[in-house]
Amino acid sequence: MQRMRRRDMLALASGVGGAGLGLGAIPLLAQTPAATKPLDRNGGPYVPTPWPVVDRMIRTGTIGAQDLVMDLGCGDGRLVIAAAKRHGARGYGVDIDAELVRLANDTAAREGVGHLVRFEERNIFDTEVREATVLTLYLLPWMMMKLRPRFLSDLRPGTRIVAHDYHFEDWRAASEFTFDVPEKVAITGISTTTVYLFLVPARVEGRWAVEAPGAPAFDRGELVLRKTLNDFEGMLALGGRTPRRLDATSLKGLDLRFALPVEGPGGRAGRAIVRARVEGDRMEGTVESTLAATTRFSASRLN
Ligand SMILES: C[S@@+](CC[C@H](N)C(=O)[O-])C[C@H]1O[C@@H](n2cnc3c(N)ncnc32)[C@H](O)[C@@H]1O
Repeated sequence: MQRMRRRDMLALASGVGGAGLGLGAIPLLAQTPAATKPLDRNGGPYVPTPWPVVDRMIRTGTIGAQDLVMDLGCGDGRLVIAAAKRHGARGYGVDIDAELVRLANDTAAREGVGHLVRFEERNIFDTEVREATVLTLYLLPWMMMKLRPRFLSDLRPGTRIVAHDYHFEDWRAASEFTFDVPEKVAITGISTTTVYLFLVPARVEGRWAVEAPGAPAFDRGELVLRKTLNDFEGMLALGGRTPRRLDATSLKGLDLRFALPVEGPGGRAGRAIVRARVEGDRMEGTVESTLAATTRFSASRLN
């Protein structure tokens, strides 16, 4: 599978190998100005995402009318247009290729979603992404990694990134789905396709004042968290006691979870699991403990 993925990657980058991504195989490309004036398609050549993959990507992104879907390197705009047509989502796409941008805007108008979506000739590197709630990407691996720091710093926590075939290396996907798409053989030489979902994580790093009234040994405390790429690590000091290291930490978008050993009345040892949703400078959730019934958990950012 890894070897196939690698071959697929090289085919996309170079347009050679097996059935390969021969650029001549893409009729649209022949009509673009690329033939006369080379475009710096450093994010990858124009290869439209096949429709079964478009369907899967839209489902994976759980796209709805409240979303703003952005496709960086949008090609003919199919992902953004389909999201608008099917779910009433607003959309924005950029591509370095003016002909594709014109085609995308014309198609959007023809499909009756011109009021919802817009396409512009623009380099991905000059594109502001902050407003997106969903990003759709079909870009080469090096471009994915080049963009990763910007996505992590600029996108709002909880933003969904749905990626076709290429991922962000050690940034763990929230989900991935691999399936066979026969149309891909003509493009990449193989039919294997993967759709990844990444969730931009909440900004949890810092000090938090914890309140969990009613949870034995878990009343007032201070939580200190440090973000890692995929999760976080930290300590929780409860009621002035020695800080305890958190374990079983997990952060999926806005949803955080951790566990730690706790001490109940009379020195009884127990374990607590906290599950909370991080909304800006507040966390709200529950503490489940081996010492008592589940109670409410909340925390406010101190710095
Ligand atoms: C593999 S195609 C994907 C098209 C579309 N997103 C889809 O999934 O059907 C990649 C697209 O990115 C565009 N592209 C490559 N590098 C770019 C850059 N630096 N800025 C803007 N567009 C770029 C190419 O012109 C091409 O249309």
